[in-house]
Amino acid sequence: MKVLVTRELPPSTQKFLEEQSLELIQWKKDCAMPRDELLNSVKGVDAIFCLLTDKIDKTLLDAAGPQLKVVSTMSVGFDHLDIDELKARNIQMGYTPDCLTDATADLTILLLLSAARRIKEGIRAAEQGEWREWRPNWLLGTQFSGKTLGVVGLGRIGQAVAHRLKAFGITRILYYGRSRKLQAETDIGAEFSSFDDLLKHSDYITICSALTPETQDMFDYTAFSKMKPTAVFVNTSRGGVVKQDDLVRALEDGKVGAVGLDVCTPEPLPTDHKLYQFSNCIVLPHIGSATLETREKMASMALDNILAVINGQPIPFGI
Ligand code: DGY
Repeated sequence: MKVLVTRELPPSTQKFLEEQSLELIQWKKDCAMPRDELLNSVKGVDAIFCLLTDKIDKTLLDAAGPQLKVVSTMSVGFDHLDIDELKARNIQMGYTPDCLTDATADLTILLLLSAARRIKEGIRAAEQGEWREWRPNWLLGTQFSGKTLGVVGLGRIGQAVAHRLKAFGITRILYYGRSRKLQAETDIGAEFSSFDDLLKHSDYITICSALTPETQDMFDYTAFSKMKPTAVFVNTSRGGVVKQDDLVRALEDGKVGAVGLDVCTPEPLPTDHKLYQFSNCIVLPHIGSATLETREKMASMALDNILAVINGQPIPFGI
């Protein structure tokens, strides 16, 4: 079986991959496989192991040919896959749910805390000699105790974030999404809310939903204008959920208190982008799942999907 793997994998899974008796085509450089390279290499393969940086669309599937059996992405998000096109061709699809929940929820908390406690300004001040004597009114942030959290998309990651923040003293959890999550309502006391009410009442707002046509550009200037001007806003899902120019305008107009982003549009965000210039906006380079444990698990799950399908077994983590 001929398998295309679009990047070098974390060490244990890479070793395991090389032990398989497969005809392996692998892009081993530490950068995304260029599109023309991808289109050339995909010809005649039975399986594609891809990342969120690889667009799996009609052109690529045409280039691959009709023998292609499975596409497995080393990610929980799959907005880079053309699901309708894959379904129409009966190609199985795999992804890596659950295993990155803890790592991503941890990073979401890190961003919420860092933005709320003005970490970017604090680090800069310390490094640039602005740290004078202890001052009662310097670099004051906000804390979680007694506050309201708003989660957009109370799936696995959203629930893990809410659960963690309860330990920090959050007293009310509002959530908005496609459907009610009754179990989460019981387990963590989350309250289903309209989008507007969530924006209006939350002190901390975090996006944990997938990028879909419904969530694309959901956070626009109107949404930011409905937030408390002190609200802390964090996005660790996909950049496309936020209308980025509107976020810049909202920051300029003081419509949002502090911002933490692990995802942007485009990625990487060019270094001269305005978002880097705000002292109350932290930008990270999409590292939500970046722990050794999680990346190994993601890679092995994505590989398991491929091995199962090419060996005629049911796909373990199918979309
Ligand atoms: C995913 O798996 O979709 C994440 O964004 C990777 O961190």
